[in-house]
Amino acid sequence: MDIYEVTGLKRPEIVEHIKKYADLDASTKELIQAAIAAQRNAYVKYSNFYVGAAFRTKDARIFAGCNIENASFTPTTCAERTALSKAISEGYTEFVAGAVVAYQEDAFTTPCGVCRQFIMEFAPSDIPLFITKSQVGVEKANDELVLATSIYNLLPHGFRTFKGN
Ligand code: THU
Repeated sequence: MDIYEVTGLKRPEIVEHIKKYADLDASTKELIQAAIAAQRNAYVKYSNFYVGAAFRTKDARIFAGCNIENASFTPTTCAERTALSKAISEGYTEFVAGAVVAYQEDAFTTPCGVCRQFIMEFAPSDIPLFITKSQVGVEKANDELVLATSIYNLLPHGFRTFKGN
């Protein structure tokens, strides 16, 4: 017996892998480009760390967002939560894919723990996530690497209410 059988949690089925940007399908490229466009608007007065995110809804709409920082630090909102909040407040709660872009020399900028929990809230089934580097003002190289993962991979055994799902 394993934890999935005991709790009814869902096992991640998407196998995490790394692809080249050029090899992605058109709709994933479009999602990443939407995240890149939003990244330019990042309000990052304190960290200067520009992040963009975009989520595609079940009916193929894209909602994108950037991180929004605050002088008091704690109220800062990550790009992922900005994008999802825009969608949810417009009545869209079902997502089929997400993208996150930022620039760190030697790391993929994967969503923070709070954002993982936030995404999980809207993931009754797994959501593929595409993470890649993007530097504001620098054109994207076609051979740029993209981490293709999913929310079930990033938040194994994530908390869910006992009432639903
Ligand atoms: N940040 C995001 O927007 N998304 C992430 O996935 C990681 C962190 C933001 C929060 C803050 O504005 C800045 O990056 C530095 O932590």
